Amino acid sequence: MSRTLAKQWEDYELIDAGNEKKLERWGNVITIRPDRNAYFKSKLSQKDWYNQAHFEFIEHTHHKGEWQNLKNAPLSWEISYNDIIFHLKLTQFKHIGLFPEQQANWEFIAKHIQPQQKFLNLFAYTGASSLIAKSKGANTFHCDSVKQVINWSKKNMELSNLKDIHWVLEDALKFAQREVKRGRTYDGIIMDPPAFGLGAKKERWKIESLFPKLVKTASKLLTSKGFLIINTYSPRLKSKDIEPILNQYFPYKKIEISKLCIKSSTGKTIEYGELSRVY
Ligand SMILES: C[S@@+](CC[C@H](N)C(=O)[O-])C[C@H]1O[C@@H](n2cnc3c(N)ncnc32)[C@H](O)[C@@H]1O
Repeated sequence: MSRTLAKQWEDYELIDAGNEKKLERWGNVITIRPDRNAYFKSKLSQKDWYNQAHFEFIEHTHHKGEWQNLKNAPLSWEISYNDIIFHLKLTQFKHIGLFPEQQANWEFIAKHIQPQQKFLNLFAYTGASSLIAKSKGANTFHCDSVKQVINWSKKNMELSNLKDIHWVLEDALKFAQREVKRGRTYDGIIMDPPAFGLGAKKERWKIESLFPKLVKTASKLLTSKGFLIINTYSPRLKSKDIEPILNQYFPYKKIEISKLCIKSSTGKTIEYGELSRVY
């Protein structure tokens, strides 16, 4: 399958990867985080890694764990991507507020969205894609079901000197279905659902069962010339499962399915799930 390679930028570098971990630089801060996708051997030695790193996340249970501050560094800081500023901080999960591999989508959104067009970000986390769309002048709607990450996104918006993003604290599918009933449409939609989660009535879902509903709903919301981006991270939802669903709902549009990847400065490539683009 083809690959879409995210690019590093001045404030983000995947320095090295391997032994199920990655060594990353965020501005001046260097972290070691677990990543099962880095199943190969690292290029640099462990000594090299620990000489550089400020923080390491030690995973206890599935994704949960604790950060070790190896060099007495501040626990929150800011980085930029072009004119956008992201506030980063250590969380009880291994994440710190940004998924840098999404840079490939930020570039796509920046290229395809036009001023005044409507843009919808579902499962929007700390709002990177919303900020990119807003910085291009789009009328931007940002939906996430967790209040803390909406607040975090607002902070990023203010730091980036942007305003007027429409914040929606709601279940993503429920909001999207409601928008269909209200007859609303969007020129660009991105969704980044987790592999499993909770719905509007706290019911458990897995992405392989939710995916067809999300695509069907998006097909009703998207304008005829609009674009849709969907990231999925589940071994149970492969491109051969995704393709017929996209073909069914978007028979007249271009469909691209690839593996979203990022390459370290030492030449190691990490693959992150399936990236689908319809445009
Ligand atoms: C993988 S993150 C998205 C990362 C984002 N694309 C980025 O690059 O910054 C998934 C997000 O989905 C949100 N989420 C989980 N279940 C949800 C639901 N049912 N409705 C809306 N948002 C949900 C989580 O709060 C989290 O912020």
